[in-house]
Amino acid sequence: MSEPIPAEFWDARFGEADLVYGDRASRLLIGFRDLFPASGRALVPGAGQGRDAVYLAECGLDVLALDLSSVGLQRAEALAASRGVTVNTKQADLAEWDWPEGEIDVIAAMFFHLPPSLRPVLHGKMVEALKPGGLIFLECFTREQAEFQKTHKSGGPPDPLMMPTPDELRADFSAATPYAFWTGVEHLTEGPYHTGPAALLRAVYRKPE
Ligand SMILES: C[S@@+](CC[C@H](N)C(=O)[O-])C[C@H]1O[C@@H](n2cnc3c(N)ncnc32)[C@H](O)[C@@H]1O
Repeated sequence: MSEPIPAEFWDARFGEADLVYGDRASRLLIGFRDLFPASGRALVPGAGQGRDAVYLAECGLDVLALDLSSVGLQRAEALAASRGVTVNTKQADLAEWDWPEGEIDVIAAMFFHLPPSLRPVLHGKMVEALKPGGLIFLECFTREQAEFQKTHKSGGPPDPLMMPTPDELRADFSAATPYAFWTGVEHLTEGPYHTGPAALLRAVYRKPE
């Protein structure tokens, strides 16, 4: 059975000298920037060291970055300060967190890989958290990434079941409307642990009005 990766693992990784997934936001967020509202509330679950949270703040959104790892969130706050923006942070296990309902404009869930028992539950919480018309941007590895992990440091959890299939993702977000949905292979350049060819899924969902 799949087990969650503990906070201690992430604290150790995010304490390394380099920003482990770089300081540039996900290409998905950069590519769909035109969809963001000019202002509003954004949630970044599994924010890590904050590259996406900082980008959303730079785009004018009021951002809450959430993560198991307090070390990651300290790096996120430092990255935000270095770029002249503010990101609010909250250390939490999102399996236990009291998710908002109908309050959020934008959610960015990037490489927030979860065990199969938890993934649909938290994806459902994300849809519930959005206002009508709100958007979820999601990027993750698909199960084919297990092959690239043998030859490259392009990322992903060691347990292939934590990397969803496209059908699993579609089922998780059946209450939302797909705006974009893409799977394929792309060469990532996102810091020392996300570099090289990778099997990716990128999706944008809108909560119905
Ligand atoms: C692969 S990292 C991705 C970090 C960031 N989204 C990025 O792309 O740079 C996965 C992140 O999810 C966080 N995470 C995993 N399970 C979590 C949970 N149950 N609650 C909160 N954060 C969690 C980890 O601490 C880690 O920061």
